[in-house]
Amino acid sequence: TILIIDFGSQVTQLIARRVREAGVYSEIAPFNAAAEVFARLKPRGIILSGGPNSVVGIDPPMPPQAVWDAGLPVLGICYGQQAMAQALGGTVHAGDSGEFGRAFIEVAEDCALFDGLWQPGERHQVWMSHGDKVDALPSGFRPVARSEGAPYAAIADESRHFYGVQFHPEVVHTPDGARLIANFARHVCGLSGDWSMAEFRATKIAEIRAQVGEGRVICGLSGGVDSAVAAVLIHEAIGDQLTCVFVDHGLMRLGEAEQVVSLFRGHYNIPLVHVDASETFLGGLAGVSDPEAKRKFIGKAFIDLFEGEAKKIGGADFLAQGTLYPDVIESVSFTGGPSVTIKSHHNVGGLPERMNMQLVEPLRELFKDEVRALGRELGLPEVFVGRHPFPGPGLAIRIPGAVTREKCDILRKADAVYLDEIRKAGLYDAIWQAFAVLLPVKTVGVMGDGRTYDHVCALRAVTSTDGMTADVYPFESAFLSAVATRIVNEVQGINRVVYDYTSKPPGTIEWE
Ligand code: XMP
Repeated sequence: TILIIDFGSQVTQLIARRVREAGVYSEIAPFNAAAEVFARLKPRGIILSGGPNSVVGIDPPMPPQAVWDAGLPVLGICYGQQAMAQALGGTVHAGDSGEFGRAFIEVAEDCALFDGLWQPGERHQVWMSHGDKVDALPSGFRPVARSEGAPYAAIADESRHFYGVQFHPEVVHTPDGARLIANFARHVCGLSGDWSMAEFRATKIAEIRAQVGEGRVICGLSGGVDSAVAAVLIHEAIGDQLTCVFVDHGLMRLGEAEQVVSLFRGHYNIPLVHVDASETFLGGLAGVSDPEAKRKFIGKAFIDLFEGEAKKIGGADFLAQGTLYPDVIESVSFTGGPSVTIKSHHNVGGLPERMNMQLVEPLRELFKDEVRALGRELGLPEVFVGRHPFPGPGLAIRIPGAVTREKCDILRKADAVYLDEIRKAGLYDAIWQAFAVLLPVKTVGVMGDGRTYDHVCALRAVTSTDGMTADVYPFESAFLSAVATRIVNEVQGINRVVYDYTSKPPGTIEWE
């Protein structure tokens, strides 16, 4: 195991991800709990993350002394490098001339981090984000790479296996970064690199058991991959101490609600309460056309219904959620600064306080593709695991204007035709999300000898890695024509189809 000590960088989780990609297990501990986690975990190596502080400020966060005394390899990244230099007798200069963004470093000397990768004299692209920099090395260290703004862009004390880099190897903008981290994890720390999702599963199961004990857990299923994977994992850990509640708002895609019920009851035999609440949701949405009003109503109705069901089954001590790492970063940046709310995301965020429950969130460190890998590991069917993301408020936010049951039915059919064609063309997995939107606009058409006056349907398809930014998927025009023809022919109520050519930003992925 490698222990990652977090000093508050936005991208600490990426360090963990890179270490896991190198086949080595890692855990993150906040700097102020690092001493205790260090003692429990007995790691074979330590990575110090970046962070927003300055080591020359007042009372800067520092790694525990044990980190330097344990005789273990240590890699300091950015702030972590500065903390390392400061703690071991070097000095750090509070910066007026930082480097932000892409930079080039020149390799000065060999070192174990660069094994098989970088040679002295070569120049390589890295990603920098620092104001402060190390300006005198502790004894035993030598500079192994320099940049224009940082003479000590990489430093090493090979006898103690201490390494520091000013740049960020964990981000993709440092093209060789993942391999530098792999070199640290495998060559320097001597770890074998055979860790896998199977081990993650076993570790999390042990953690869930330790956290929950004899307690009762309730989990809200959304129909999506994340909550399903969380639920199956937790069920494996604690069996029927878990109850799943599926609040079915009637705004799912075609056949999806049935799939969730048969997967949980039939395939896994996990206790499931299925609440058919389409009347409540459609009733409450009647006449509501403001997107935020829709989202707020759905979020609140969901929480009320969920809470009611939880009371019926006698309450629970824990609430399980399929929170992923991108949810964690997004929510931090949403509360941490003066950023505006673009959309009120629907989740059960208000529930734990309201119901006085602790959270069980076994997927918090994972990215979407890792959750999918874990789902496969747990035996979830491929159609479920590989499914495109679907928003909590469902079809309601894909029907601009007022939502009716009739419109939902029309949209479900158009969406199913579109996805069917995408699957048949073998494009489903190349697309992050594809869906149809039913516009509140009617246009005139002609079919046979008759005039039609029906709704417009917009098609959307994007590629993305995390949903934060997205590009339009460039379908061949013949493909789009075929889909448009099928929709207009097969779906009554739609007589015109358009394709949405907007990336995110400036558009968002969903229309509301
Ligand atoms: P936007 O539309 O904000 O969507 O670009 C980004 C990603 O988030 C999904 N999305 C949601 N997911 N609850 C969710 O669980 C929501 O309220 C919600 N709104 C949007 C959207 O489908 C896309 O993948």
